[in-house]
Amino acid sequence: MRTFSRRLMLAAASSSILPLRSSLAAGLAATPEQTEGPFYPVAYPADSDNDLVQVRGQAAYAMGTILHLQGRVLDASGKPLSGTLVEIWQCDAQGLYDHPGQPGRERRDRAFQGYGKVMTDAQSAYRFRTLKPVAYPGRTPHIHLKVATAGGRRLTTQFYLAGEAQNDRDFVYRGALRDAKSRERIEMRLEPANGLEAGAFATTMDIVIA
Ligand SMILES: [Fe+2]
Repeated sequence: MRTFSRRLMLAAASSSILPLRSSLAAGLAATPEQTEGPFYPVAYPADSDNDLVQVRGQAAYAMGTILHLQGRVLDASGKPLSGTLVEIWQCDAQGLYDHPGQPGRERRDRAFQGYGKVMTDAQSAYRFRTLKPVAYPGRTPHIHLKVATAGGRRLTTQFYLAGEAQNDRDFVYRGALRDAKSRERIEMRLEPANGLEAGAFATTMDIVIA
């Protein structure tokens, strides 16, 4: 029994260390900086945690398809950056932001938090429960992110859906896409969130700060 659990621990340890070693040798492509856009909150919601699908004190879930977004924050050498603040914000399932500049804001889904934040843990991991992003006029589906490391480094960026037909016509996406490596940093590949939540998707996106 003891041997079995130790084997498991070793397997877990090597699977997390090996990709880090190879990335240290190669150097990681940085997540590209992208515009903040006009819809960063002017006032944070009372509930600003990392579950955007359910607002504290409300029974209803947000409309839309649930997406579990997770990953690690690393520097270009692959060093984990624990204690990093990660913020995300996005429109609701109808394409509406919770922002004074949003036409039709009063029709927004009040069960959707719209904004959330989390600190990376000891393994520099972050995790959000949010929505699969939808398009709104002029933009392909995207999630906005702001990252602030304990050492004072900052990054503002956006994540997109891999394979989304509207991406190539989106000016922000096109500006961020420099090569195959930057594509990997901004395109989310969605998989069913098996074992996590029925009907939901999951994706892993490491954020690399140059
Ligand atoms: Fe946006």
